Amino acid sequence: MDNEDNWLIDDSDDVATATAVDPWRVLIVDDEPDIHQVTRLALGNIDFLGRPLELMSAYSGREALATLEQDDDIALMLLDVVMESEEAGLRVARAVREEQHNHRVRIILRTGQPGIAPEREVIESYDINDYKAKTELTRDKLYTAVLGTLRSYRDIMLIEQQRQMLAANRRGLLKVIDASSSIFQLQSIRQFAQGVLEQLQALLFFEQEALYVVVKGSVAALDQDGATTVLYATGGYAALCDKPLADDVLARFKPSIDEAMRDGRSVFADDHFVGFFRAHQGAANLLIIDGPVALSHADRDLVELFCRNVSIAFENLMLRAEIEDTQRDIIYRLSEVVENRSQDTGKHIHRMAEYAWLLARELGLSDEDAEIIRAASPLHDIGKVGIPDVVLHKPGRLDDAERRIMDTHAALGHAMLKDAKPRILKMAAIIAHQHHERWDGAGYPQRLAGEAIHIAARIIALADVYDALSNARCYKPAWPREDVLEAISLGRGSQFDPAVVDAFFAVLPQLEAVQARLQDTQQGS
Ligand code: C2E
Ligand code: SIN
Ligand code: SIN
Ligand code: FE
Repeated sequence: MDNEDNWLIDDSDDVATATAVDPWRVLIVDDEPDIHQVTRLALGNIDFLGRPLELMSAYSGREALATLEQDDDIALMLLDVVMESEEAGLRVARAVREEQHNHRVRIILRTGQPGIAPEREVIESYDINDYKAKTELTRDKLYTAVLGTLRSYRDIMLIEQQRQMLAANRRGLLKVIDASSSIFQLQSIRQFAQGVLEQLQALLFFEQEALYVVVKGSVAALDQDGATTVLYATGGYAALCDKPLADDVLARFKPSIDEAMRDGRSVFADDHFVGFFRAHQGAANLLIIDGPVALSHADRDLVELFCRNVSIAFENLMLRAEIEDTQRDIIYRLSEVVENRSQDTGKHIHRMAEYAWLLARELGLSDEDAEIIRAASPLHDIGKVGIPDVVLHKPGRLDDAERRIMDTHAALGHAMLKDAKPRILKMAAIIAHQHHERWDGAGYPQRLAGEAIHIAARIIALADVYDALSNARCYKPAWPREDVLEAISLGRGSQFDPAVVDAFFAVLPQLEAVQARLQDTQQGS
């Protein structure tokens, strides 16, 4: 299927025979009945490109336009210039192009005065193919002119058809992009895989059976146990869902899979297609369509684009899946340790998460990093579960001994989380450990300074103080807004990273919107 670049100029009748029953419709426009007669005699029983002619007649410019208005598949008009007026024919040519917007019908002008050609400008403006003197009505001359003109009409129609198909493909692709932007609503990887296969099949009008396969590791790992998992499959392959790719199926597609993984792109074979993309966490994703796939270059580009798009959506989904796993892990750990230990309000934790995300984005961290920090932030004070109630819930100021006990919550939180595997819990361990460090090195527990403090902890430090000052605690009332902002300003470069303070003021309206939306209903600890 590599000949689509030159099939337009292929004069074999393949294309025409598809519609062999349809004649070419040719409209003779002339006010002299004799001309109709002669033309019919000259062209009557000849086939052009495998199709006969259907000759139609109009005897004035007005009648010609009415006929064209009704029949939008007239291929050719043999058009007299002088009829009801000197320029009636030229008026027809102008009206058919400019008013009826018919740019398909071919036009051969015929004039009674040999040697007087219509102006070049007229020929170009109204896309007139040819002009002939009426004396040139011999069968041979007419045949040659009509053949050339019908050929160009056929090409125009094919291009038009192709453009419509391409537009349909584009619409399919837009649907795909819409679908992947709503990917956050898809509940599982499997549902995602199903959606991708359905979209791809719809996009390319495929009826074939298909598989969505994830491969861990490199091409060399293909044969190892557990390297492949079928996420979704249709038709005869449906039984493979959630299983490794069966040996016989793997063997059938292996050369293409090898090639796709080696070259990092999709492979179009005669009787199947292997779409490829690599999610940036490492796993390779294969979309296998089993069956002949005849695609133009433009279609192939669309498929490649689709695969890239899918890989971005897949990345988002994997991240979300990891967050969900992590959250289950968190809930498990907390329910074991805590059990209504802290009076801290849930709202505080939600606000912190939103503040942290806004600050991280403003500071230019990636979506993914911001998401991880947001997910980890609720655990920043988890170490407080190890602080005795009398200290934690003391209504007034802490004395020095109590303060020393209180300060251990940072190291305690770190100790609780430091061995966890999920990257969100690793991040939480760092945040728990470092969120009371200060930019100037006067914080606790490690007295880290500047960029030795993890950016996530620098963000949480500010979010934490902003929230503590803006709301009442058991040991203090809420501060007025101006005082809160002044304290944060004063802390720029001493308590806080100056860049984080700048980000804070840049997103202050959004922070305050969060504050308003997530207000405390009861007093926190
Ligand atoms: P928290 O209540 O969540 O406060 C977090 C951080 O906000 C504090 O970290 C501190 O940096 C800032 N902050 C809170 N209230 C004030 C304030 O009135 N003035 C100023 N300048 N900053 C404030 P810090 O100091 O390391 O305290 C850690 C945690 O220790 C607090 O978390 C709170 O649970 C507890 N805590 C601190 N001071 C007292 C206290 O006087 N009485 C009681 N009962 N608990 C305290
Ligand atoms: C087709 O010919 O398959 C549709 C148009 C295109 O994709 O080039
Ligand atoms: C991360 O990249 O781990 C998030 C925070 C940071 O950039 O340090
Ligand atoms: Fe804390």
